[in-house]
Parts: sequence; structure tokens; C-alpha cells
Amino acid sequence: MASVAQTTVEVSDDAPRVAAEWAGLFDTVEEVDAPVTRIEGTVPAGLVGTLYRNGPGVHDFAESFFDGDGLIRALTFREDGGVHFKSRYVRTPKYEKQTALGRAVSRGVGTNLPGGWFRNAFRAPAHEANTSVFWHEGELYALEEGGHPYRINADDLSTLGMTDFEGNLTARSAFTAHPHVDPETGDALCFGTVFGLKLGLQAFRIDRSGRFHDIGTVPKLRDSFVHDFAVTKNWLVFFFTPTVTNILPILLGTSTYFDEIDWKPELGTGIALMPRAGGDIIELETEPFQVGHTVGAFEEGGELIVDLCQLDNWSQMGDAATAYRTSDWKGYGASRVRRHRIDPASKSLKSETICSLPAEFPRIRADTETRRGRYAFFAANTRPGEGGWFRATMKLDRETGATDLHDYGRYKVGLEPIFVARPGGTDEDDGWLIAFVHDGRNRASEVAILDARQVSDGPVATLHLPGNTGVTFHGTWRPGA
Ligand SMILES: [Fe+2]
Repeated sequence: MASVAQTTVEVSDDAPRVAAEWAGLFDTVEEVDAPVTRIEGTVPAGLVGTLYRNGPGVHDFAESFFDGDGLIRALTFREDGGVHFKSRYVRTPKYEKQTALGRAVSRGVGTNLPGGWFRNAFRAPAHEANTSVFWHEGELYALEEGGHPYRINADDLSTLGMTDFEGNLTARSAFTAHPHVDPETGDALCFGTVFGLKLGLQAFRIDRSGRFHDIGTVPKLRDSFVHDFAVTKNWLVFFFTPTVTNILPILLGTSTYFDEIDWKPELGTGIALMPRAGGDIIELETEPFQVGHTVGAFEEGGELIVDLCQLDNWSQMGDAATAYRTSDWKGYGASRVRRHRIDPASKSLKSETICSLPAEFPRIRADTETRRGRYAFFAANTRPGEGGWFRATMKLDRETGATDLHDYGRYKVGLEPIFVARPGGTDEDDGWLIAFVHDGRNRASEVAILDARQVSDGPVATLHLPGNTGVTFHGTWRPGA
């Protein structure tokens, strides 16, 4: 196992970071199809494949960045060392109509149409396909948890249309932006929110052949906003945090979904454990906390070990999501990584903080999903309590709590780093991290490639993309030429 450097970061810039420092991150951006010609350092030999990322690219009509239109970015590393960048909008009905008319055409989760309540009443938020992109067994999907996946042509990024997996996803059931793939079975474990009066989550799996298999319905223990979940060898773990939605003003068009989420700490957080084989669900109750993303999960001695990025309450995340143009982003400083040991037999759990640096957008090596893994990789800030968009790429040793990070500086944003295993390498951290980085001083986009064994050495290569490609949330790696 490679050694992990314990890095001490010298920070002299104590002033809180402000949105002007990441100017251009939420610019509306154009589609691009061009080679990457400005490269500092050397792209590693052996890094061959395509990194896809998704995130909103049109912000002109959105009050929340979750209401921008999905733009798929593809960065292709060729065998001959060439690198190509391509980006293309998902052709959702909303995007097509909005582009043709040049004005807002739908309400979103944090945006109402201008013109009053009657233009919004009893209308569902649009599906922008803007959250994640998922490569699974030869298919590329653009995902947003409010609706069904869009199939995307993995080569030219054209939109092939929505899929309901041959009718298995009903019109009322959505599809998570966070499938977790079991490396042993090849199954993509998934869930979808079932909309309607009988609130629940539909749990299912997509097998290696792309076939849909229902697992069962998880009753919502709270009227909760569930974004991610955890998967072990035998269990699915759902966290229902005390985020309660006031439905009436949303239905009547006087308010938006994001504006009507209330934090009710007195309810605590409910946890549901569902067997992957289906069957009886075990329910637990614990103290209130807000979950961001799942780092990883595994089983040990009958217990389920679940590592989460979490916050103390919804507003630490929600303020930035709902008012991103004016938010001070201080809440992000409260983010940290917590380990939960859940005992299904006694319906109890023990929890501890394993990293107190603000960290989010976790990624792990693909073959450690659902299994015991030591390392995870994050977008992070450099001091406990430091707010603002994440400025660093960080590696965490989940066993010792040691961190190894590279700080891009306060005028840059480091987005979710994707781990790509070095072909033939077997050590868990033998590979590269590829992170899109936004440069707020130049309103420009870069891509950093770091050696995952020694993150604090900084990028082995920095690719300057043609222009600004804006914000991206999540990505996926397609290996090979
Ligand atoms: Fe996410």
C-alpha cells in the first residue's frame, strides 16, 4: 500500500471567501467541439478514455442553479496522447422550447415562471437532466432525480430520448442521480422517488444487460429530500433527514419547492435498511443531521459501516442552493465526513467524525463500491469551518483520518474529482484524479490531473479548456479508446 502524506496547509488568506472569487462559474455557456491544445505538464501515458460530466449550462432563466439546463461535457484522452473536449446540451422539451422562444417556459424546483401564481399552479418542475451522467454497460445516461434518465449517444453526445426501461419505471417514479454499481455483480443499484400522495421510494437494480429488476418500495420515514443512498453487499441504506415540505404553496404556485423546505430537528433522522434481496425493512431513529452525498459503505462483523458527507441542518446546504447569487456560502464550512456503524440486529448506531475539513462530492475507486475501501477523494476546503465553494482536491484515509490535499487557491474552485485506476495497478490509490477546476479570475475552465498516491504534489498536468464550461456536479469514466 502506498504511503499517505499528512499535509499541513499554510493558509494566510483568513478573510471569508465571497462569490466574486468564483466569477463565471454560473455563466451561461456555449457548446464546444475542439481539441485541447494548451496543456501544462504531461498527460500520463495509460490514461485513455472519456470523462463525462454534467451540470447546468444555461442559467438565464433560473433562480436556483438546480434549474439550469443539463450540459454534457466529454473530455477524451486518446491513445496517441491527444485530448479533445466536447459539450452538448441535453435536448429536453424544456431546453428545445426555451431556446426557440428565448424566454422561460417552465417552472423549476427553485424558480417560478414570471407572471404570477396562475402560471405556476399545479405545474410540476421541469426535468432539465442536469445533475449527473452515468456510464453503465455500454449506455450513457443523463440523470436528474426528478424524472426518468435521458439516453445520450456516448460518441457525439446527441440526445436519444428518455427511457423508462421498457415500462418498468412508471410515470410517477423518478430515477436517482446516484446509482451505485456493485463491482461483483455489475448491478446498478438505484432508487426513485414515487410522486403522489402515497410517498415512498422505489428500489430497483439495472443488471449487466440493462434489464430492470424491482426490489421493493421503501416507505418515506419523513417527508424528506433524499438525494443519495448507501449500498453494501446485502443492504440498501436510506437516510430520511427532517426536511419537511409545505406542499400547498407549491401546488398553488405561490412558492417554489426549495423555498418550502423546513428543517424540523425535533423529528430526528430516520434510517431505513432494505435487504437487497427484498423483504422486511428495518427502521432506526437517530439525531437530526442533513446528508449530502454517500462516501462509501460496507459490512463488517454484522454491522453496516456507512461514511457520509453531512451537515448540521438543511439551511447550510439549502441557502446556497436556493439563493446562489446572493448566498455567502458559509454553510459549506460545516460540512464534514462522518462514519456511522449501524447494527441491524439491535437497531442501533454509533457515529464519529472521521474528517473535520469541509468536504463534499466524494468519489471512491469503482471496485471498492459496496466493499471495504480505505481511500476516498473529495472537493474540499482547507480549514475546518471554511465556507465558499470548494477550493481543493483532497484524499482521505478513511481508516486513519489522514488527509492529503492540493489547494488550487482562493480564486479557483475544485469540482468533484473522479478516480481513474491505472491500468494494471492493484493498490487502491494507484491511479489518477481528474478534477474540473474553475478559475474565477479569468472566468475560465481547467482540468487538473493528479497522482492519487500523492495529491499534495499538485497536478501532473493542467489542461486549459477552450473558454468557460461553467459548473458541473457529477461525472463518470468510460475506459478505453
Ligand atoms: Fe449529487
